[in-house]
Order: sequence, then C-alpha cells, then structure tokens
Amino acid sequence: RRTEVAVLLHDIGILVAEKKYGSRAGKFQHIEGPPLVREITKQAGEEPGFIDRVAFIVGNHHNFSKADGTDFQILIEADMLVNLKNEKIIKNKLAEFIDNFFKTKKGREIARQIYL
Ligand SMILES: [Fe+2]
Repeated sequence: RRTEVAVLLHDIGILVAEKKYGSRAGKFQHIEGPPLVREITKQAGEEPGFIDRVAFIVGNHHNFSKADGTDFQILIEADMLVNLKNEKIIKNKLAEFIDNFFKTKKGREIARQIYL
C-alpha cells in the first residue's frame, strides 16, 4: 500500500514547483512534494513511519541511485516505462539501458516489450 500511495502522490510537487520556480524539474519537485505528501497522509491518519517513507520516496524520485527498496524501485520503473520515449538514448544503447535500469523481472519484461 505504501508503494501505491507513493506512486499516486509522486508528482504532486509539480504544480507548486511550476508556480514558485517556473520549472517542473526534478529538484524542485523534490523540494515541494514531500511537505504536501506529509500533509495529505497525516490527514488520512497514516503512521509516522509510513509518512516518512512516502515523503522520502517522493522527495527523491528523480534520484534513481537513491532507490533503496522495492517500493521505491517499482515507482521509478513505472515512471520510466512512461518516460523512456522522451529520454535521449541512442537506439543501440537502449537494450543495455533497459537491462541496467530495470531491476524487477516484470519491469524489464514490459520495457523490452514496448521499446525493443
Ligand atoms: Fe516527477
């Protein structure tokens, strides 16, 4: 469930980021997302541990090297499945990129199906 909530909320900082900085860059989403996540999940009655974890994931979801758990990994893989078409990766490097980036069997399978 933690994963689902993180996935649902992960881009929640975008609107505030655009308003405040005129940019939806990851680093601004990382600043603006977590306070909103904390407010929403607290209002929903979630436990502090749950809130901290979701805030951490949302606050780092463009820093792929920070992915330190299956919940975080699933989120970045789902996001990459959608965004890979916009990444500038040379065609003959695509298979290599997919195999490196996607750690879950299912994520890799879907990515290969869509993009290779
Ligand atoms: Fe994002």
